[in-house]
Amino acid sequence: MPDTRGSIHGQWSSRFVFILAAVGSAVGLGNIWKFPYITGENGGGAFVLVYLVCIALIGVPIMMAEILIGRRGRQSPINTMRVLVADEQANPAWRWLGWLGVVTGFLILSYYSVIAGWALAYVFRAGAGLFTGADADSVSTLFGALLGSPESMLAWHTIFMVMTMVVVARGVRGGLEKAVTLLMPALFVLLVLLVFYAMYQGAFARGVEFLFNADFSKVFQHCESLESGGPASCRFTGEPLLIALGHAFFTLSLGMGAIMVYGSYMPGNASIARATLIIVAADTVAALLAGLAIFPIVFANGLEPAAGPGLIFQTLPIAFGSMPGGRLFGTLFFVLLTFAAWTSAISLIEPAVAWLVENRGIARVPAAIAVGVLAWVLGIGSVLSFNLWSGESFQLFGKTWFDLMDYLTANILLPLGGLFIALFAGWVMSRAASRGELRMGDRRGYRTWRFLVRYVSPWLVVIVFLNAIGLI
Ligand code: PFF
Repeated sequence: MPDTRGSIHGQWSSRFVFILAAVGSAVGLGNIWKFPYITGENGGGAFVLVYLVCIALIGVPIMMAEILIGRRGRQSPINTMRVLVADEQANPAWRWLGWLGVVTGFLILSYYSVIAGWALAYVFRAGAGLFTGADADSVSTLFGALLGSPESMLAWHTIFMVMTMVVVARGVRGGLEKAVTLLMPALFVLLVLLVFYAMYQGAFARGVEFLFNADFSKVFQHCESLESGGPASCRFTGEPLLIALGHAFFTLSLGMGAIMVYGSYMPGNASIARATLIIVAADTVAALLAGLAIFPIVFANGLEPAAGPGLIFQTLPIAFGSMPGGRLFGTLFFVLLTFAAWTSAISLIEPAVAWLVENRGIARVPAAIAVGVLAWVLGIGSVLSFNLWSGESFQLFGKTWFDLMDYLTANILLPLGGLFIALFAGWVMSRAASRGELRMGDRRGYRTWRFLVRYVSPWLVVIVFLNAIGLI
């Protein structure tokens, strides 16, 4: 019955727009801010390889599963799960999967908006020429000044959250489509330009080696910088595996219903398999380009690859400060980074907003405000994590509020959500249902997908979990 349902929220105007919107969701802070610093903290090349394996064996099949579930249900993840549970006469407990996604989205958005606020702040710093002639020290002082001021971080966090609420309030087509179409190609062009800069001005060979030379003794080594710019302390642990797995989910926006809700607005005739491959390829290329732009500058300036969440804010300004046209490019870069974060944040909030509209009969505007304000309040904890609450007395399990939110969502809740999505699509949905929705002419393609989603992806997630808690 796939095409008999329609979404009350509207539909993307074409399959191309669906792909752009999904790439807009996938490509964000995860690629440009997070991927380089977690790669730096987890030893480089071997970590990248594990991450790529996770993308291929877990990311691709689960993304297909998420899109197909969304398009079949054509509602917010919570209601989609309700409808599909009824269709398949499955255990009602599966309905919790939709709720898990909505809660995870909230938690991610709360800290995502804080980091996006940094990008926004940097638009104005770059525009004011503050990086001109800057070296590693002055850039790090400038970054420290932002982190040390809860007021200004809170202000940027607020502005970004309002931006997110405004777009979501305007609905699926109202503005978002146009923004994504214009901005995503521009972001890619700028990333390539920065890679060229790194090629000529940075320690490119060392950067490439760090990123692609897989030294497996290092994948079990997790390093943390002692203080900004200080030497890193490293220890051996299975944690990098879990971080690579979690990041595969985070960067592809999987495991929380964002891609599911976008799938629910997808035209019925578009190929889910083809769209998935394009989205995954674009996302991976964006992350690798970011790594190639950043590590050569890190090494050329004697910076620490394990500098943590501040990595790109302490490396790229040095490049912008010395390159011809750096003021313009720097400003543009942070504008585009903000837009990349924006198109992702929208997908974090959309599942909850769609649900409020469907179930509570609330209009989009108040629904977007309600969800945004709640995530904003939660985000204050992340703002304070970098200053007033950074001390040990405010930490839980040795982590600040920000670290805890990041760890809990990316490394636990998203993989858990993804695991259940795979199990639902692979074991609960009938073959006729998944096959009908995927519409894969190619029988071998369908069989490969079903095999991966039933046996490979879930097991890999379980194994990495067990490893992380020390059971294997
Ligand atoms: N994929 C986004 C990024 O890489 O920045 C983050 C994200 C968006 C995660 C939406 C999860 C999500 F549902």
